[in-house]
Amino acid sequence: MKSVSIPAARTTPPGRAARGMRPLLAAALLALLAACGEDHITRYPQTTFAPETEMAREQMFLFNLTMWMGIVVGVLTFAGMGYIMWKFRYRPGMPDPEQIHGNTKLEVAWTLLPALIVAVIAVFTVRAIFITQPEPPANALNVRVIGKQWWWEFQYPVGNDTVITANEIHVPINQPVQLLLESDNVLHSFWVPQMAGKRDLITNRVNRLIFTPTVPGVYMGQCAEFCGDSHALMKMRLIAHTPEGFRQWLENEARPALEPTDSTSAVALGKKLVTQGACAGCHVIEGTPMVGRLGPNLTHFGRRRTLAAGIVDNNAENLAKWVSNAPAMKPGSLMPPQGKAAGGNLTEEQIQYIVAYLQSLQ
Ligand code: CUA
Repeated sequence: MKSVSIPAARTTPPGRAARGMRPLLAAALLALLAACGEDHITRYPQTTFAPETEMAREQMFLFNLTMWMGIVVGVLTFAGMGYIMWKFRYRPGMPDPEQIHGNTKLEVAWTLLPALIVAVIAVFTVRAIFITQPEPPANALNVRVIGKQWWWEFQYPVGNDTVITANEIHVPINQPVQLLLESDNVLHSFWVPQMAGKRDLITNRVNRLIFTPTVPGVYMGQCAEFCGDSHALMKMRLIAHTPEGFRQWLENEARPALEPTDSTSAVALGKKLVTQGACAGCHVIEGTPMVGRLGPNLTHFGRRRTLAAGIVDNNAENLAKWVSNAPAMKPGSLMPPQGKAAGGNLTEEQIQYIVAYLQSLQ
C-alpha cells in the first residue's frame, strides 16, 4: 500500500496566550448560546421523518401505519404468488389443470380482508384529521401568510398595527401558532415538514394551519405546490424562539427603520437612492415615505439571514448581485434588473450605497 503524506500546514501549536484564552472563549460562547436560546441553530434535515411538533408526529404515525400495513400485505402477496408459481409450474407430460371457476371461501376472504385493512386506516385517518384541524386555541399566535411569486409574506397583528416581514417566519415555542394561509395570485403550499405537513395557499380562501413548536431553532421549508418559473426557489425559514426571544424580535420589527447617523455616509446616500428611486414603487420601509406593496417589506431587511426567498445568504456580495439583476438569480422575478450592466439605471457605486443602506436596516 502506498503511504500518503499529509502536508504539515496546521501543526503549529497555539501560543500560550491563545491557550489561556480558551476557557474564556468557551464561557463567552456558552453565554452567547444561552442568550440566543438556540434560535440560530439550523435543525436539519428538511424532512417529514424528523417531526418536532405533535401535529408532525401524528402525520408521521399515519404514514408509518399505512407503510407497514402495505409492506405486510405486499410481502404476503408476493410470497404467495411465488409459492404458487413454483408449486404449480409446468412439467413435461402434465395434463391440463382442472378448470374451475370461483371459490366462495377465497372470494369472501379477499373481499373482507382489504375492507378490514382500509377500515383500520380510516379510523386512524379520521382521528388525524381531527387532530390536525383543531379549533384555534384562545392563546394562539395568529400569523397571516401570503404566498407571492415567489416569496412569502408574513403579517403579525400587533395591537392595531401589523408587523410585516418576508421569507423568515418567527414564532415562539410552547405557544400554538395559527397560520392563516392566503394567496393573491396562484396556488402555493406552505411546507415546513418538521412543523407540519403541507397546506395550500388558495386565492379567495383562508386555510388554517395550527401547530406548536417546542424546540428553538431554524427550520427549513419551501413551497410545495407548483406555482411558476421559480417555484423551486421559493424557500423559507421558520425560526422558533424562546418566548422572550420572540418578544424581543417582534418588538424590534414593530419599530420604524433606523435613520442613518451620518448624513454623508454610504448608508445615507443609499437611503436617498432607495427611498427616492425605483425601489419605492414596490417596497415599504417603515419610517420612510416608501409605500409600495408589490415587493417584500424591507423595514428590517438587514436582520434577515437570507435573501430572494431563502436561496442565498444575505451578504453584501449576494445583495449587490440581486439588486443589479434579480431575474438572473430567480427566473421570472418581478423585480426588473437595476444595474447598468443588465439594462437598468444604477451604477456599481450606487448599488454599493444601496447595499450599505439595506444592510443597515437592523
Ligand atoms: Cu409557490 Cu410553488
